[in-house]
Amino acid sequence: MTAIQATMRLSQTLFGATFHNPVLLAAGTCGFGEELRDALDLPSLGGIVTKSVTLEPRAGNPAPRVVEAGNAMLNSVGLANPGLERVCSEKLPWMREHLSGIQVFVSVAGHNPEEYWRIVEGLESVGGFLGYELNLSCPNDTRLGGLPFALDPDALRGVVEGARRLTDRPLLVKLAPNVPDIGPVAEAAEEAGADGLTLVNTLPGLIIDIESRSATLGGGPGGLSGPALRAVGVHAVHRARACTAIPLLGVGGITAAGDAIQYLLAGASLVQVGTATFADPRAAQRMGRGIARYGQKMGIEDIQDLVGTYRGVEDHPVSVSGGDRPVSVSGEPS
Ligand code: FUM
Repeated sequence: MTAIQATMRLSQTLFGATFHNPVLLAAGTCGFGEELRDALDLPSLGGIVTKSVTLEPRAGNPAPRVVEAGNAMLNSVGLANPGLERVCSEKLPWMREHLSGIQVFVSVAGHNPEEYWRIVEGLESVGGFLGYELNLSCPNDTRLGGLPFALDPDALRGVVEGARRLTDRPLLVKLAPNVPDIGPVAEAAEEAGADGLTLVNTLPGLIIDIESRSATLGGGPGGLSGPALRAVGVHAVHRARACTAIPLLGVGGITAAGDAIQYLLAGASLVQVGTATFADPRAAQRMGRGIARYGQKMGIEDIQDLVGTYRGVEDHPVSVSGGDRPVSVSGEPS
């Protein structure tokens, strides 16, 4: 008779808090939770990251803001949000009342370092959330006046160091995929005081309508998300894991438990579901069970024994003694 394996334990203590499920909802895809409250069982998730909050309310970029792009989605929302004041007076009190069982990170965005710091200062006095996710990587902020901070380790360092001085709450930094090597950016964020890293934001893209010869999105270019981004995100997590010791949150193209497991194997302790929620609001809800079933099948008792256990090619040196036969990067003769 086959022994029945215990279900893998999903609960983890990270940032001084309990995450009973490694699956969170990603920033910009779940508002502040109100709209999704009736569509899925929010308390069954590990947590949510709010829409990015800016100092002033933002109406966002012109419509259309979202288009399908094959196995992906392109968006240019332009950080539409009600602004710091209303978030403090309306959104956070609502979240405190209705989402007390799950962990909440408030996403923060600004045009310059001072704006980030003023938002953190403003939110500090208001309870109802665990920590911050500094969005330093939005590709759609046309008034930024330069590249996103996450593309320049020194610029990133300045924003994070200033925010670190203002809060003892957990500070996540959301990084961009379009850098030559995410390792040095991850190191800079950790050195500047980040407690965790979220990898990755969307990848800049453009879709042109060939009849009108104009962009299909009202804002012009946008950020690519969905399944096409997954391999980029998993690679970024793997690379950041090699360069930093702080917890990582994987995001990008997670539509099913198997996708989330790839991120965990690459070294993420938590994952975030974004684009998949638009197609199926319950997508994130199903993943925890799928991850637990995988652990059970593999005989793993605790999710922490799964995190970072990817067996990379670098762990299995390729023998090149096979005569004249070419050897592929996977180590298999081609
Ligand atoms: O357009 C947007 O609001 C996108 C934000 C982001 O990707 O961070």
